[in-house]
Amino acid sequence: MSDQLDEQAREVAVAVYGPRFEHISRYVDIVTRRGIEWGLLGPREPERIWSRHILNCAALSELLPQGTDVVDIGSGAGLPGLPVAILRPDLRVTLVESLKRRAEFLDLAVAELGLGDRVRVIRGRAEEQKLTPDVVTCRAVAPLDKLVRWTAPYLLPHGQLIALKGERAEAEVNEHAAELARRRLSATVMSIRAHQLAEPTQAVVVRRTA
Ligand SMILES: C[S@@+](CC[C@H](N)C(=O)[O-])C[C@H]1O[C@@H](n2cnc3c(N)ncnc32)[C@H](O)[C@@H]1O
Repeated sequence: MSDQLDEQAREVAVAVYGPRFEHISRYVDIVTRRGIEWGLLGPREPERIWSRHILNCAALSELLPQGTDVVDIGSGAGLPGLPVAILRPDLRVTLVESLKRRAEFLDLAVAELGLGDRVRVIRGRAEEQKLTPDVVTCRAVAPLDKLVRWTAPYLLPHGQLIALKGERAEAEVNEHAAELARRRLSATVMSIRAHQLAEPTQAVVVRRTA
């Protein structure tokens, strides 16, 4: 992705984030400076930060009901949890990250972004948590069967697991159909985008069938 294309994506993000654009820009600054210094983000990522990361994650927003508790597992440098929390002040967001250094980065970012009243960080493994979120989110963390195994115990009757999966979404659902059926879960692939001018991405939405 060239700098020019990412500049266009940044313009789209201005429209998506509106009055919160300055806030998301502060996160971009943190993640493209300290995130790289700390080795959390690859050196090529700043040139595609808006298109590949911020808008991609913001696309999730359309699937998240108002005022809900969201748990983002395997947040890494805060994706998708922090762009979503900034875009949606109605949400309470928990970032679960197993690696100490990444969790420390997240603690610092949450404090610097002034999000501490509704975003918390848990350093630990997703499968060891006792949480009751309305929605679990994740991106680039594990194959679908593993995600389901880890999070099914805390999926409420109305709850959802939403995994950003990109092009492999449909294939993963087919590969893991037996595991889903065994756990009485159903999965739907949805094409979502943050804005009509943004690239669409694929999300797998998992719910209880009974
Ligand atoms: C490839 S990174 C993706 C980070 C971020 N979600 C993104 O899209 O940029 C995967 C992250 O998941 C974390 N992780 C892997 N297994 C985990 C588990 N069982 N519980 C919590 N975090 C986990 C890793 O430490 C890493 O930070």
